[in-house]
Amino acid sequence: MCGIIGFTGSHHVQDILLNGLQRLEYRGYDSAGIAYFRDDSNHISIRKTAGKVSDLRAVCDDDNESHCGIGHTRWATHGGVSTTNAHPHRVGRVALIHNGIIENYKELIAKYNLAPQLKSQTDTEVAAALINKKYDEFNDPKKALKAAVNEMEGAFAFCILFREDPGKIYAIRNVSPMVATFAENAGSFIASDLTAFLDFTKNYFVVPEYHLLTLSNDGIEMEDLEGNTVEPEYLTVDWDVDAAEKEGYAHYMLKEIHEQPSAIEKTIAPRIKDSLPDFSVDGIDDSLFENVSDITVIACGTALYAGMVGAQMIKNRFGIPVTCAVASEFRYERPVLNENSLVIVCSQSGETIDTLAALRLASEYTKKTLSIVNVKGSSIARESNYVLYTHAGPEIAVASTKAYTSQVAAFYLIAIKLGLVSGKASEPRAKEFIETLKTVPNMIKTMLGYEDRVAGLTKRMVNATDAFFIGRGLDYQIAMEGSLKLKEISYIHAEAYAAGELKHGTISLVEEGVPVIAIASQSNVYSKVISNIRETEARGAYVILISKDPEVTDPSICDVHFHIPDVPDEFTVFEVIVICQMLAYYTSTGKGIDPDKPRNLAKSVTVE
Ligand code: F6R
Repeated sequence: MCGIIGFTGSHHVQDILLNGLQRLEYRGYDSAGIAYFRDDSNHISIRKTAGKVSDLRAVCDDDNESHCGIGHTRWATHGGVSTTNAHPHRVGRVALIHNGIIENYKELIAKYNLAPQLKSQTDTEVAAALINKKYDEFNDPKKALKAAVNEMEGAFAFCILFREDPGKIYAIRNVSPMVATFAENAGSFIASDLTAFLDFTKNYFVVPEYHLLTLSNDGIEMEDLEGNTVEPEYLTVDWDVDAAEKEGYAHYMLKEIHEQPSAIEKTIAPRIKDSLPDFSVDGIDDSLFENVSDITVIACGTALYAGMVGAQMIKNRFGIPVTCAVASEFRYERPVLNENSLVIVCSQSGETIDTLAALRLASEYTKKTLSIVNVKGSSIARESNYVLYTHAGPEIAVASTKAYTSQVAAFYLIAIKLGLVSGKASEPRAKEFIETLKTVPNMIKTMLGYEDRVAGLTKRMVNATDAFFIGRGLDYQIAMEGSLKLKEISYIHAEAYAAGELKHGTISLVEEGVPVIAIASQSNVYSKVISNIRETEARGAYVILISKDPEVTDPSICDVHFHIPDVPDEFTVFEVIVICQMLAYYTSTGKGIDPDKPRNLAKSVTVE
């Protein structure tokens, strides 16, 4: 949450900051701002405004003489959406941008009598005031920063300009993510995520926590808090800048929906050998899956729903006990784990703070911590003992799509491996399953063929105020993700229910015309769910049925039917979810909403 970028080098800084912020905008779009030095002068100019990066462009003059600056796109936490609360914040001789939350900001205001200097309601301005105070005391940027962060509690990624140090950016972080790089042809960059500087280089390093960076035109110096020089550990990203562009699609979300076949291919192909799962590319051998007493899956949002699908599969196929935990709850509960517990943490960004905190807690109980992560080098990937990268490429749209399906595919590989290692899966059955998994990209391609039909439902959907997603067994887990997609980008109140549970209360909400998206793809409960659907149809619901039936013409069952090709029940998730994703997308655009930037949301939730 919140996108930050800093650049100092041979290019015009305004262009680099504004283009970088455009790429980071998925992290927050409440306000945007930049601060920069005019060359060789120690005057810091600030331009900022409530609104999006496009609004910021409108208030920036064409400044070609500045080569060092910082930029920010905000997801509001402390203080409302306003230009005053927009970053950068300047206090005295310091201008600063921040991602995170300073939890003890009130104590700091009181301790140092900072109130008279504050104009905004943000915790960030308090940090700027404290750093400025320490700068007045030490007259040395590094000493000032070290002394200030020593007193701060919470999460932060700071980039700071000190007035007497033109051409230099200072940076430090705790928890909130930050990556940096030096590109020979341009200069030094720092950002929340590497998409901001991918036009210049594919190499980057993750800024370690509590290390102080000094960026200049000549390179990046890094030291720990004791002043020891630390060499950055560079990584190389394995996708191109094009992957972070819309490539002709109207929105990133639509592009990412269409990328699912190739994303899944990239997740599974390196991990299948002789039709069996093989994690040697990840450096994971079978010992991780031996003697597993129980499994806990921890994640948030869509990643959790992917985990629930994986958990259902592991439990139902192999009888291994699996619990799924909402990360923000798990981190404050008493974990029931032992050294043989396998903890699977799932996160697209690898930076979700609740998931990270839950992983840290789980790590106190077991060394068997395995993460399924998309972003290379992210905190969760680094802090778990084993990591499976999904290799789905950058996911920019706030609503997660290709990350979900590639996470489910990763869970399916893990499930089969667990089955084999525990002796609960036979090799021929495992091979059969993996052969079907290999066909998932084609299943999704077939479903993408429904795009026009799904778009045709827009007129009906845009007028809905409520919608219900119902299903049983695995279909219920899919319904949860379907309803999250619809509500987050269309603002229609949507809920998922186990179809058999409706009559215990919720059916009272079903009235004439309410859309019910009924998923009936699981053979063992098919007739049961059809009865539940009839109950809603009888009360006037507008039923959109998704099932394997070649044709459903009975009007007492549904108004619209989507036939999904007959694949084994565990694989219908890949078919059904594509319809749900497209339904959410077209409902959102039909209402004139930008599905890539739904209100109040941002990607990569790095605040609690
Ligand atoms: C919904 C969505 C969120 C994320 C959740 C976890 O479309 O994207 O629910 O799934 O915030 O994010 P990660 O996977 O980055 O931990």
